[in-house]
Amino acid sequence: MTTVSSTRIPNDPRQYDELADQWWNPEGTFASLSWIARCRAALVPTATRENAVLVDVACGGGLLHPHLVGKGYTHVGVDLSAESGRVARAHGVDQVIRGDMNRIPLANECADVVTAGQCLEHVTDPARVIAECCRILRPGGTLVVDTIPDTAIARLLIITLAENLPLRVKAPKGCHDHRLFVNRAGLVRAAAAHGVSLRLQGLAPKLSDIPGFLFHRRPEIRLIPSRNTSVLFQGVGVKRVRADARSHREARRPAGIGG
Ligand SMILES: C[S@@+](CC[C@H](N)C(=O)[O-])C[C@H]1O[C@@H](n2cnc3c(N)ncnc32)[C@H](O)[C@@H]1O
Repeated sequence: MTTVSSTRIPNDPRQYDELADQWWNPEGTFASLSWIARCRAALVPTATRENAVLVDVACGGGLLHPHLVGKGYTHVGVDLSAESGRVARAHGVDQVIRGDMNRIPLANECADVVTAGQCLEHVTDPARVIAECCRILRPGGTLVVDTIPDTAIARLLIITLAENLPLRVKAPKGCHDHRLFVNRAGLVRAAAAHGVSLRLQGLAPKLSDIPGFLFHRRPEIRLIPSRNTSVLFQGVGVKRVRADARSHREARRPAGIGG
């Protein structure tokens, strides 16, 4: 069985190399991430142009990939963990770049969609990561994030209970540091400062799935949108198109087209 070294500090990014063989184990420590990835993909619009690119910031083992099939994107992952990147490639992610989400090694405005799932709660400055996500997002493109808020209930459920109770799928001990859980208003402000107005919604377990899951009759617990953002939440928004870019496009539009 794969374990995280007991000498690791909480939130040590090296744990993702050590646990890389767990990404696609439906009974493993990352199982709930695949449930969240499905909800993340639900917020990704179908591509509206050819050669559209989706950048998956902190892609891990590529759990988002199967849910993007048919949406029309080249799926580019960025992650610090080389082992996870190899797993992501093996599971269909088109390209994986080893890199730090604090300094994403990609050009300005190269992406039609940027996702940052379950990673903002692992960095000391999520506003900086949001700024990076917005930098690589083209105007008119969509930003999709999901993370854990800085609430007492999130700390209780996600650290105290999920890391310690003998649950069917258990979070790796020390994988989170509650001091890094994300302030929702600060996140919205950070995105707005870079042209993206984020709409937040919570994710909650479908209660009727829980007994079946606990008694091994269901492989997963479905997550559904909720107004309660206090345990787990998503944010989605479109990057503002600059006025100068809009007037440039309008000037090039042939006469007689458009209103
Ligand atoms: C909880 S996992 C989420 C993975 C994936 N987004 C998902 O939801 O399945 C966090 C991921 O962040 C990556 N990570 C942590 N710190 C990072 C950093 N500074 N830059 C890039 N990736 C980082 C880890 O390697 C890991 O793959």
